[in-house]
Amino acid sequence: MAYLRGLLVALAAAPVVFGQNAAYKTCLRSAVAGGGSVAFPDALLYQEVDVNRYNLNIPVTPAAVTFPTSTDQVAAIVKCAADNGYPVQAKSGGHSYGNYGLGGTDGAIVVDMKNFQQFSMNYTTWHATIGPGTLLEDITTRLYNAGKRAMAHGTSPQIGAGGHFTIGGLGPLSRQFGMALDHTLEVEVVLANGTVVRASESDNSDVFWAIRGAGSGFGIVTEFIVRTEPAPGTAVQYEFSISVGDAKSQAALYKQWQAYVSNPDLTWKLASTLWVLQDTMIISGTYFGTKAEYDALDMASQFPGANGTAIVFEDFLGLVAEWGEEIALKLSGGIPSNFYAKSTAWTPQDLMSDASIDQFFEYVETANKGTLLWLLVFDFEGGFINEIPADATSYPHRDVLIWLQTYSINLLGSVTPTMIKFLDQLNVLANTSAPYEAYPGYVDPLLQNGPQAYWGANLPRLERIKADIDPNNVFSNPQSPQPAS
Ligand SMILES: Cc1cc2nc3c(=O)[nH]c(=O)nc-3n(C[C@H](O)[C@H](O)[C@H](O)COP(=O)(O)OP(=O)(O)OC[C@H]3O[C@@H](n4cnc5c(N)ncnc54)[C@H](O)[C@@H]3O)c2cc1C
Ligand SMILES: *[C@@H]1O[C@H](CO)[C@@H](O)[C@H](O)[C@H]1NC(C)=O
Ligand SMILES: *[C@@H]1O[C@H](CO)[C@@H](O)[C@H](O)[C@H]1NC(C)=O
Ligand SMILES: *[C@@H]1O[C@H](CO)[C@@H](O)[C@H](O)[C@H]1NC(C)=O
Ligand SMILES: *[C@@H]1O[C@H](CO)[C@@H](O)[C@H](O)[C@H]1NC(C)=O
Repeated sequence: MAYLRGLLVALAAAPVVFGQNAAYKTCLRSAVAGGGSVAFPDALLYQEVDVNRYNLNIPVTPAAVTFPTSTDQVAAIVKCAADNGYPVQAKSGGHSYGNYGLGGTDGAIVVDMKNFQQFSMNYTTWHATIGPGTLLEDITTRLYNAGKRAMAHGTSPQIGAGGHFTIGGLGPLSRQFGMALDHTLEVEVVLANGTVVRASESDNSDVFWAIRGAGSGFGIVTEFIVRTEPAPGTAVQYEFSISVGDAKSQAALYKQWQAYVSNPDLTWKLASTLWVLQDTMIISGTYFGTKAEYDALDMASQFPGANGTAIVFEDFLGLVAEWGEEIALKLSGGIPSNFYAKSTAWTPQDLMSDASIDQFFEYVETANKGTLLWLLVFDFEGGFINEIPADATSYPHRDVLIWLQTYSINLLGSVTPTMIKFLDQLNVLANTSAPYEAYPGYVDPLLQNGPQAYWGANLPRLERIKADIDPNNVFSNPQSPQPAS
């Protein structure tokens, strides 16, 4: 870590100057007066403390990082930025793979939403009000403590609601409840002209549609109202693993898993992820039900030759803590690092053939990967996510059965071309059908035509809405939708 800190200081020392006049600074200082604050690039420890990049491989120096405490302050900040010609991005948990919460490229005005921690439960409707700065770990406990409620979202505790609920939000409960964005019933949003609106199916429905899947290009959400569900009771956390790393046994286990999860009658109560790491391959997940129900699925017979374990959790908070530890162990703990990641997906119609699977794992075994810290994550989705029409929200990938995330980390320095080539080639061998689909929550800054891959058939409508409510592209990062011309 000392090395990383040295690197940070070296980067912070590079002088970056924005704007020849100080008008935006004066404007921002008055925008946050009365509780909020703002930091500029000349601040001491600006990079380390105020900016605090998640992906160390992507340098980014914002023109300012603001810390508002009210919706009115957010609106005033957006107006300052728009009037002075600066792009704006909100930062909630700061976990964008491309540092898009920091603008993704130099010179943005960042609106750090960490002070937006409001929470309340309506005990009649079981609708919860959640501030966008709330991290997933706090959402879990606050919902549980308010009448044992829950919602679907990812497993990494440090992700923020602001970036997660507006872009997707896949997690172990998604097959039952949908994505995090499918829980959203209403939002309060600051638009590009500084207007504050509430958006839902009935009010500002275009804004509401765009915010559920492509939020960062359309506004800053200052409040979410979400549908909640009774928190699961008993659950079984299972794991099957093989420690040998040869291509044949890995391909065989993958084929068994793919066949198992592509059964359309498989219960929505089953979540499953297949992990491939250096020297090991693991199938793990949760069955939301009793041990007897889990045993009746007889998963062990599906994966002969793998070592299986199953742990019963009676307590939902304990189960969620276990998920967090699992991801921390496998993904370097959500600690900032130099990394690169890509995603691709299969629908039930274009799953890999046996020949493709053999080729894929042959390559995994023999390729020069450029690092030992690489990871392939195959996530089984479907279920309730697929019941929602592809044009109901701006998130388009409703028919996906399996998402693949490939991930490569370098703890010693920058991401190398060898690391990138390994992930690129995996995507080629995955042999998914064109057009290429990518998960908007796993942004890949090197992707050509990112918006098409993230939003597919929903992109034209997003571009029209963009032209309508943000024609000057105030809310932008390197891959956000452009206004239709
Ligand atoms: C370790 C790790 C594990 C992950 N696991 C999962 C997972 O299990 N499932 C899954 O679906 N995803 C997962 N992700 C991806 C994650 O959901 C996205 O990276 C998400 O966008 C992060 O949100 P954030 O608020 O933490 O990030 P930020 O960097 O703060 O924001 C990300 C983007 O959202 C925008 N944004 C942030 N707040 C707001 C707001 N209030 N209004 C409008 N736009 C906003 C930002 O401008 C930026 O463009 C994981 C990421 C990491 C790093
Ligand atoms: C809960 O929601 C109902 C129905 O919308 C509403 O009438 C009631 O006032 C809400 N309760 C609180 C405490 O906000
Ligand atoms: C299963 O576990 C045993 C004991 O730890 C080990 O010897 C064996 O190699 C494992 N099998 C596989 C397929 O990983
Ligand atoms: C790739 O997919 C196409 C269409 O799904 C299929 O015809 C082809 O055989 C696949 N290639 C391999 C190597 O499996
Ligand atoms: C701000 O933009 C919204 C959406 O385009 C529009 O409805 C509203 O009238 C605008 N407000 C002002 C003050 O221009």
